[in-house]
Amino acid sequence: MSSIPAQKQDEMNALRCADPEIALAIEAEQRRQQTHLELIASENLVSRAVLQAQGSILTNKYAEGYPAARYYGGCKHADTVEDLARSRAINLFGADHANVQPHSGASANLAVYLACLDPGDRILGMDLAHGGHLTHGAAVSISGRYFQAHSYGVDHDTGLINLEEVRTRAQAVKPKLIVAGASSYPRKIDYPGFQGIARETGALFMADIAHVAGLIVAGLHANPVHYADLVTSTTHKTLRGPRGGFILCRHEFAKSIDRAVFPGLQGGPLMHIIAAKAVAFKEALSPDFAIYQQRVLDNAEEMAKHLEEYGFNLVTGGTDTHLVLVDLRSKGITGLEAERLLERVGITANKNAIPYDPQSRQVTSGLRLGTPVITSRGMGRQQIKQIAGFIRDAITGRQDPGKLVRIREQVARLCLEFPIC
Ligand SMILES: Cc1ncc(COP(=O)(O)O)c(C=O)c1O
Repeated sequence: MSSIPAQKQDEMNALRCADPEIALAIEAEQRRQQTHLELIASENLVSRAVLQAQGSILTNKYAEGYPAARYYGGCKHADTVEDLARSRAINLFGADHANVQPHSGASANLAVYLACLDPGDRILGMDLAHGGHLTHGAAVSISGRYFQAHSYGVDHDTGLINLEEVRTRAQAVKPKLIVAGASSYPRKIDYPGFQGIARETGALFMADIAHVAGLIVAGLHANPVHYADLVTSTTHKTLRGPRGGFILCRHEFAKSIDRAVFPGLQGGPLMHIIAAKAVAFKEALSPDFAIYQQRVLDNAEEMAKHLEEYGFNLVTGGTDTHLVLVDLRSKGITGLEAERLLERVGITANKNAIPYDPQSRQVTSGLRLGTPVITSRGMGRQQIKQIAGFIRDAITGRQDPGKLVRIREQVARLCLEFPIC
């Protein structure tokens, strides 16, 4: 029996006729998402309303420029959509100004750099190997090639960001911009602390909240809009919107940010995605969203608790975010092996470098586990305990194919109980 609901089947008919290969691949992906436990910390499930806006005819419209200042005619409705998206983003975070056009988190970060920096300027961001993001100055990224990028890391023993070390680095480097934010840091970030360092050293302060935006909206993490000059984010991680980015800033940066996004970096905005962002922002403004975010956090804590009981070492000893970073070295398995093993039992997670990782980035000693998707499916503490058990059993029983098959069957049963749409 197909796991795709009737309404979705109808929507797929046109695509099936026009392009059966793509239709089949999408249907297969739908089944994969339904039948696997997705623990990728940067993913989530969007609502049908977000999907509908994203799949709308707004994709047909060119709307270069900004509301009431477009380079094309026929933008009346595009203006309505973008105005709503901007004002909802502003309401959500209490910002002075929002730009909702960045195609992704990476584009949002580059737009800030374009607005605030000249090539060769110094930036200071979190080391990629310690949980930072490529766009915070990694050598392989344009951020590390066009700017003089310096980094701070986490403490060797605690795995925590040490603000004294950040201060010392900032005093030595004298960056024009300090970036706070991470892809695999399981703890709250001290935005006021970073603001203080930026002020002391005359740097601008950018917070990249791509991962934790939803937790911030729910009031579970501090809101960096109050402390940072500029805030960038994705819309598709904890925030549970379409794939994309946005920038929040104070009035004084509004013009230069808008100019940097368009025409500086991008061409026409993706109006269908901006519509979907607006829908997601509206959903995030509802009281239910805060309850959902609390569950994401509770589930991550529960996952950390059980994994520790099962003898796993966790970087920083736990979490106060949506993710857990497991140090697998005591289990005698690499991140790559664990990722592949879990895939066999229907659990999708990603290998991840741990701070001071002795393994290469392709192999790693860590596993990053996130709870946004399984929480969106409605799973709670009881299921999290089961999932932590599956992970333990798969790793301890990895030489026993029969055991792995039995875990796969249990995972499939759990997935059936919690459909994705
Ligand atoms: C902290 C952080 N910033 C930026 C990005 C980039 O987002 P995107 O993949 O949408 O370009 C990510 C993506 O994982 C991220 O974790």
